[in-house]
Amino acid sequence: KSRLRIGLIGFGCVGQGLYDILQQLPEFGAVVKRIAVKNPTKSRTLPADRFDFHADDLLTDPDLDVLVEVIDDADEAFRLVSTALRNGRQIVTANKAMVAHHLPELVELQQAHGGTLLYEASVCGSIPIIRTLDSYFGSEPLHSVGGLFNGSSNYVLSRMTEEGSDYGPALAEAQALGFAETDPTLDMGAFDPRSKAVILVAHAYGVLLNPDQVLNLGIENITAQDIRFAAAGGQKIKAVASLQRLADGRVTVFVTPQLVGPASPLYAVEREFNGVVIQAAFADAQFLRGRGAGGHPTGSAVLSDLAALRHGYRYAYHKHTA
Ligand code: HSE
Repeated sequence: KSRLRIGLIGFGCVGQGLYDILQQLPEFGAVVKRIAVKNPTKSRTLPADRFDFHADDLLTDPDLDVLVEVIDDADEAFRLVSTALRNGRQIVTANKAMVAHHLPELVELQQAHGGTLLYEASVCGSIPIIRTLDSYFGSEPLHSVGGLFNGSSNYVLSRMTEEGSDYGPALAEAQALGFAETDPTLDMGAFDPRSKAVILVAHAYGVLLNPDQVLNLGIENITAQDIRFAAAGGQKIKAVASLQRLADGRVTVFVTPQLVGPASPLYAVEREFNGVVIQAAFADAQFLRGRGAGGHPTGSAVLSDLAALRHGYRYAYHKHTA
């Protein structure tokens, strides 16, 4: 079997994580043929001659089987991914803000030009939540999907709850550990989990929303007093994303701080971990917990997309939104 030739765009936390996984898994049968990065002067963990400085060159390289886009800049990511799809290519991304803001166009481009985009790594890192929701698509109804989609805010709230830490130092720790976004407002203001909720609502219900249609309240104003108040009632405050189908068929989506009691599996999901509860009509409740950030866990989700592309996987909604 011939080796899968990968063009990697971006060599930050996720790009290096994927690279390292592929080094450790030669039996996966893939080779990172080209790596494109933005800054030619930055010192890196691989020799300088391994890098390209024009990501566009990779998009048209016929010797690459698949492209992996893992850069931070959502606008540039959209430009690259949409160009690749216009060329009918196969591409994997981890960029949740980009996918959430452009999903209708991304679906159209795939249908018009025959390319494929997968983005399991964009929501809850290592947790295979998109493919899990896809397995219900067109099958039994899902009453709700909810959970903790942001490791950084969960980390901050956990530290404040466990140690009585203040908000500022707890946030500095999450940043030092590398879970936070470059702009931590995205995490603490619940913009990041809002993007993830928009992506999941497409897979749970086939509904394409704009992120602006989803209410997001962050955790910036949660105080030690609020946390003591919750604890006095045996509860914790967590940044919970809720997707629900109402009795009349409408779907509601919001991300807000909520009180979570020990009866919920989310109660025990601490620190940078993510958790998702799916309530299905006949299967009843499913709970998934795992690492939502970091190079190896997120790289593992990219790897799962590469494996899925190999056997021709496309998201279920293509059959329903066409
Ligand atoms: N900043 C994100 C988080 C990274 O804290 O969950 C993973 O999307």
